[in-house]
Amino acid sequence: MTVAADLARHPLGTNPLPLLPMAQGGSWYAQDADDGALLAALEASYAAGIRHFDTAAGYGGGRSERLLGDFVRDKREGVFLASKAHGDDLTAAASLAEVEGSLGRLGVDFIDLYYIHWPRAGRDMRPVMEGLELARRQGKIGAVGVSNFTVAQMQQVAEVGHIDVHQLGFNLLWRYAEDATIPYCRENDIAVVAYSALGHGILTGKYGRDPGLAPGDQRHSILPFRADIWPHVFAGVEEMKALAASLDLPLSTLAIRWILSRPGIHSVVVGARNGVQATANVAALAPTISVATFAQMTSISDAIVAHVPDAGNLFNHYP
Ligand SMILES: NC(=O)c1ccc[n+]([C@@H]2O[C@H](COP(=O)([O-])OP(=O)(O)OC[C@H]3O[C@@H](n4cnc5c(N)ncnc54)[C@H](OP(=O)(O)O)[C@@H]3O)[C@@H](O)[C@H]2O)c1
Repeated sequence: MTVAADLARHPLGTNPLPLLPMAQGGSWYAQDADDGALLAALEASYAAGIRHFDTAAGYGGGRSERLLGDFVRDKREGVFLASKAHGDDLTAAASLAEVEGSLGRLGVDFIDLYYIHWPRAGRDMRPVMEGLELARRQGKIGAVGVSNFTVAQMQQVAEVGHIDVHQLGFNLLWRYAEDATIPYCRENDIAVVAYSALGHGILTGKYGRDPGLAPGDQRHSILPFRADIWPHVFAGVEEMKALAASLDLPLSTLAIRWILSRPGIHSVVVGARNGVQATANVAALAPTISVATFAQMTSISDAIVAHVPDAGNLFNHYP
């Protein structure tokens, strides 16, 4: 893989490895994908040069961590592992136990970056942070992250620990983090990792005027697919597709690179349910893309996001 020269590798305190611009995700909703296909996605992204892998204790009830652990066993050196957890017990002891659970499922003795996966509205998250700082002092994790936090929630946990990274939902269809969260991260030297870079597949341009999701598909809960919002999303994505075609690039490449062009964003996590998707996604890191193209993407995105209300997160998920 050749990485475009403007894509940074962001150092993370004392962690031996920096944050790399793209992570292969844990495909949280690809529950119908078999282990072979998900493993093929890991293999393909690794073969294409990806060394940042993102997972979580909650993905498939531990399946995603176990699969990733099996995959990295013989290639741990130089691989940046990120995981996360959000148990119901918000104590430091439970938080440390979550890290130990992830270490066990991954079959490693060190995780480069460990996130508090979700905040609990109105609850004190400081003990959870204290548990992660303890894990850091014990050499079990290298960097501490939060995910899906508001500014107030970050300020609360920052009283008892240091946030290195914030992982948040951000893509051409969902940009609320630009208002306050990303500016706060920039002011406080917190790296930002954007998840759902492809808008759960929408930003590959593969959906038609009728998205045709199967009845049990978990994406029914995702805001851009809501019946009154979808027509605006579809129209904008069609415009983006035309722009991508004029440049002879896949829309997914423009979608991923647009995120990395935004101020304050250091990395994207991209999901793939098989090797073909993973290979296509990693290819996004190679081309040189002009500032004018990014500006055109922003302008189309502006028109879409005006129709997507701020529901707090993309999934109507409020643990
Ligand atoms: N911190 C958090 O709370 C949080 C939340 C969500 C996700 N994440 C992380 O971010 C990762 C990515 O997020 P995500 O999976 O929600 O969204 P995403 O990256 O926007 O979309 C991934 C999905 O899009 C489809 N896809 C991907 N590449 C494609 C390609 N080249 N061509 C066609 N379709 C393609 C695949 O699903 P289909 O084939 O089924 O369409 C894939 O599972 C996750 O795996 C996870 O690690 C974190």
